[in-house]
Amino acid sequence: MPAARISGVGMYVPPKVVRNDDLRAFYDTSDEWIYTRSGIKERRWAEEPASTAELGYYAAQEALQAAGKKAVDLDLIIFATLSPDLYFPGSGVLLQQKLGLETTPALDIRQQCSGFVYGLSIADQFIRTGMYRTILLVGAEVQSTWIDYAPEGRTVGVLFGDGAGAVVIEATEALGRGIRSSHLYSQGAYAMELCIAEPSSATRRHILPGSYGMRPYMNGKEVFRHAVQRMGEAIQVALSTQNWHPNEVDLYVLHQANIRIVQAVAEFFGLPMDKFFNNIHKYGNTTAASIPICLYEAQAEGRLKAGDKVILAAFGSGFTWGSVALIW
Ligand code: COA
Repeated sequence: MPAARISGVGMYVPPKVVRNDDLRAFYDTSDEWIYTRSGIKERRWAEEPASTAELGYYAAQEALQAAGKKAVDLDLIIFATLSPDLYFPGSGVLLQQKLGLETTPALDIRQQCSGFVYGLSIADQFIRTGMYRTILLVGAEVQSTWIDYAPEGRTVGVLFGDGAGAVVIEATEALGRGIRSSHLYSQGAYAMELCIAEPSSATRRHILPGSYGMRPYMNGKEVFRHAVQRMGEAIQVALSTQNWHPNEVDLYVLHQANIRIVQAVAEFFGLPMDKFFNNIHKYGNTTAASIPICLYEAQAEGRLKAGDKVILAAFGSGFTWGSVALIW
């Protein structure tokens, strides 16, 4: 049975940097409040007419190049996003068209901040069964268009940013490399604790021309508490399945929602923070893009080497969460 291995990583963030103090144009906030509570210093915002599929396309091109592959080599595209270009169809088919492909299947998944972890697990299953050998997984978001710029939108608005990350996942027969296990969870009882409920098919409200009309809602304290507990559990099950001691793992890459969440998880396992790769200070929460952007930068900085033991974990709206254990 082949294993699934990440063979190329790419990322793209829009050039426009928005610093914490720049947000004071909309909100009653401060660099001090945002940084001490989240670890965020700045984020990127796409400028029109950039779209989620377009950001994903730039990241995908880099991942393909890194893997030494062409778009025509792909057997499947998986696109993870909570901010698709359109209500329907999904951004996956838009990316497929941008890549110049004719009939390659494209699958969109809606697991928000856990989208990349879910996507890796899906890719792993397709490769293990032998159905596909080369898969592109993209996590991309344009969130600056749903942020609520009204004063009451500040709690959510300061946390999120735009960006994209992509990986090529290939079948490998080389023993000991690739994805070793994945564990996925969700709990719809908490669906309304972090959501955009309008516009929706349920409310039949429509966005009027010229108005944003989006009202994101987040119960910050509840999300924080669950994120720490659930990512801790997901990491524990990955460690137990692999029979790895927490210290034996070379690098932990957790979804970048809040540096204090990562610190709490590190503390729970008694691990130093340098076991965790973080870049939230530069990009904020890029939702489905955050883990692949981390992988890209970790590799570029020499913190991911062939044979390294790696654990990825994410938690997000749904609630959804999960972990992946892999040998890089
Ligand atoms: N700037 C300044 N003040 C703000 C603010 C902002 N951007 N947003 C909220 N506040 C105010 C609130 O109005 C509140 O004021 P009040 O006490 O007068 O009512 C106060 O700050 C809340 O502060 P605090 O209780 O210290 O907030 P917190 O420690 O719970 O931190 C979050 C808030 C959002 C940073 C935190 O709850 C969090 O990170 N939660 C998880 C978010 C997350 O990870 N989301 C994505 C999951 S994938």
